[in-house]
Amino acid sequence: MQTSTPSLTAAFTTRRAAHGRALYGEPMHGTTPRELGPAGAQALLGGLFEPGADRLAHSVGVGRRAEQVAGALGQPDLLVSAAYLHDVGYAAAACDTGLHQLDGARYLRRLGAPDDLTSLVAHHTAAVVEAAARGFDTTLRDEFPAPSDSELLDLLTYCDMTTSAQGGTVTVDERFGRIYDRYPPGHLVSRSMRHAEPYLRRIVSAVEDRLG
Ligand SMILES: [Fe+2]
Repeated sequence: MQTSTPSLTAAFTTRRAAHGRALYGEPMHGTTPRELGPAGAQALLGGLFEPGADRLAHSVGVGRRAEQVAGALGQPDLLVSAAYLHDVGYAAAACDTGLHQLDGARYLRRLGAPDDLTSLVAHHTAAVVEAAARGFDTTLRDEFPAPSDSELLDLLTYCDMTTSAQGGTVTVDERFGRIYDRYPPGHLVSRSMRHAEPYLRRIVSAVEDRLG
């Protein structure tokens, strides 16, 4: 069921004034995400992944990248929060179907995250391609309609595709190379990425043009 929650596109001070101190969620794993702005998103991440884990380093790296992009292009905190949280579906607390975008979006929805945040997490980095390969494309679309702001989705995907598994900045060529090194040619993830590669490269190229 869809929840009615405040939008992260609103300025933080406006949201806090409108909704009081406790905006989102219940205590989870020692972390109480009072709101899922960038600071709350980082705090939540720290409770979901082991210190030093690549998933944590990558997520932090994508979040930092999004901070730069949001600053350069005048984008809202929503982009940064989604970047920090985009891979929470890999966390043990969230993993269920194996489609990390779906698992992450469901997990965040259970926390009370707003629809504009869960839709970005659900659809980042051509999620529908891997969803189709896993038989979850209809489920994904039914539970999480595509983001109303496709620009934010492209920017999130750009940040993901230019950040390494360890959190460093990489070119899109390096990113694809490392993904294909990690997953053998017949692997579902590898096949899905091959299928989505032209689309993802177009997104990265377009954002790079905007960033100059
Ligand atoms: Fe990622």
